[in-house]
Amino acid sequence: MSENRRFAVYGNPIKHSRSPFIHSAFGKQCGIALEYRAVRIELADFSRATTAFFASGGAGLNITVPFKEEAFALVDESTPRARRARAVNTLWTDSAGRLRGENTDGVGLVRDMVANMGWQLRGKSVLVMGAGGAVRGFLDPLLLEQPARVHIVNRTVEKAERLCDEFSGGRYLSFSGYQDLPAEPFDLVVNGSSAGFSEDELQLDGVALSEKCCCYDMMYGPEPTPFMRWAAKNLAWAVSDGLGMLVEQAAEAFYVWHGVRPNSQPVIQQLRGVLAAAA
Ligand code: ATR
Repeated sequence: MSENRRFAVYGNPIKHSRSPFIHSAFGKQCGIALEYRAVRIELADFSRATTAFFASGGAGLNITVPFKEEAFALVDESTPRARRARAVNTLWTDSAGRLRGENTDGVGLVRDMVANMGWQLRGKSVLVMGAGGAVRGFLDPLLLEQPARVHIVNRTVEKAERLCDEFSGGRYLSFSGYQDLPAEPFDLVVNGSSAGFSEDELQLDGVALSEKCCCYDMMYGPEPTPFMRWAAKNLAWAVSDGLGMLVEQAAEAFYVWHGVRPNSQPVIQQLRGVLAAAA
């Protein structure tokens, strides 16, 4: 780790990023002095801005929408997890000056479900909604937990099929459109689609939830999301938004940069308070 403790998140838009809050809180908690800024990058300027950041002694970057795939293409070396996701959200340079990339999104999501929520994924039947970048990053960490089966449902069925082909690795993955959902009950339903669904738009009428079904929305906000409301109405056993995932992916990035694992729980609580106050 260089002496320079300058960090930032690059994205567009970036105004609502909570990353500066989270990393400052982790830094205080761990006694690590750092500066962390949220920077809006013009669409054509990502590569130049990233190179300039590290050339000027910046220590680490988080990358958010819409630059994660571009960041993956830019790095000299990425981790196996990032290669499977084909996207990078955490950048740093190694002692040889090579630009390195990691993807902490999926592992942050699984950690939130398993460590924070206490949900068991092993042997469970999982429904994943969406087949875009967020789901691609989630599948490897999910499969490492050894669920019994994973069904991917997506508006564009071919994209779900492609993910199944790519990630199956001998495990039981299936796919369909929303009209052809399997009838068997699911133990976990994860909304990884970027649709700002209204409750009416959720096409999950055919979905059966098992008695102890957990429902997780990768989105979050001051109010329960439409998917969370749908889950509650359908008697899900437990329901969560994606705020914990946001903090956990940041905790993983913090670990990559500083070699210290912060305690996420108090920061999740603080952030809940901030969101409620802003509502
Ligand atoms: P992200 O990086 O957030 O995953 P993405 O790669 O653009 O974003 O993927 C968005 C996902 O949300 C896709 O699975 C997309 O479905 P399509 O592949 O059919 O486009 C899904 N999505 C977006 N809007 C949707 C809508 N109105 N109804 C259903 N799914 C939607």
